[in-house]
Amino acid sequence: MAYPFRSALFALDPETAHRATIAALRAWGSIGAPFAAKSVLDESLRVRLAGIDFPNPVGLAAGLDKNAEAVPGLLGLGFGAVEVGTLTPRPQPGNPKPRLFRLVEDEAVINRMGFNNDGIDAALARVGTLKRRAGVLGINVGANKDSADRVTDYAEGVRKAAPHADYITINVSSPNTPGLRDLQSRPALDELLAACDAARDKTPLFLKIAPDLDRAGVEGAIRAAMDNRIDALIVSNTTISRPGSLRSSFATETGGLSGAPLRELARAKLVEAREASGGALPLISAGGIDSADETKRRLDAGAVLVQIYSALVYKGPGLVHDILAGMR
Ligand SMILES: Cc1cc2nc3c(=O)[nH]c(=O)nc-3n(C[C@H](O)[C@H](O)[C@H](O)COP(=O)(O)O)c2cc1C
Repeated sequence: MAYPFRSALFALDPETAHRATIAALRAWGSIGAPFAAKSVLDESLRVRLAGIDFPNPVGLAAGLDKNAEAVPGLLGLGFGAVEVGTLTPRPQPGNPKPRLFRLVEDEAVINRMGFNNDGIDAALARVGTLKRRAGVLGINVGANKDSADRVTDYAEGVRKAAPHADYITINVSSPNTPGLRDLQSRPALDELLAACDAARDKTPLFLKIAPDLDRAGVEGAIRAAMDNRIDALIVSNTTISRPGSLRSSFATETGGLSGAPLRELARAKLVEAREASGGALPLISAGGIDSADETKRRLDAGAVLVQIYSALVYKGPGLVHDILAGMR
């Protein structure tokens, strides 16, 4: 069923609706959210990963709150963790608009935002003012589009984020920065992860991969992650593939596809990652998760945690509570 203000948001272009959502969450975070958060604490849902206590296994995926503007409001929706970013060392505007598309008939999103963000320093200044948090904070880092040395960009992001983050995600899987995903293959991935490992100062490090890697690519990423002491793998980012089932006229837009049409691929890549790692590397599943049933399916398939983004657009902010209630 549609949530109350869905039609109002859908009447706006997607980026304006996104900004309005962040503004509302920011306002709510400063008033009611800290009280709401307490109501979803349930001991049976707690998860411990990499030394971090997650109040529940349902996290917000990166990209919704790139600049860490609405963390208390988002935790107040019930998320066990909020991942901000992707943040780059220097601010950058991202790709020309339009760059965000709702595929309503498909319950999907295509984005080619291109890491638009205020830069990591501005976001960390916001994070530094947060009081004791009701949940876990992840900081997702990436490289500037025009960077001459991407490895140094990531290492700088990790070094700066480490004092502020419960965990840091190394995002090498966005399709919207040309050449970025080449960092997913060895030996480039080993060099990158070794530099991030050296910069982390004990903060847990997660690696986020694309669902478009083939089985050998997933295996290679897992070996590199384990060789470089990565604590968990996030499977996955958006896909550049386009299932034949898509009905929306936006289906041919360039960018990463997320939401319902990503569900099967994300599930299949989780299974591949589970097989390749033999359980030795904790897995976090993202892609098309929109219900308690789907969350349970991912946990049963070997994920320790899940992350959600696109389903919030279609099912609204009450989704997190609904999922948690359905898991008890
Ligand atoms: C508009 C939009 C922006 C995104 N930006 C980022 C980002 O900056 N960094 C990142 O790691 N993932 C980003 N993602 C990917 C999500 O974090 C997630 O991995 C993906 O959308 C699959 O989950 P979903 O089907 O629940 O949306 C973005 C997704 C969307 C829809």
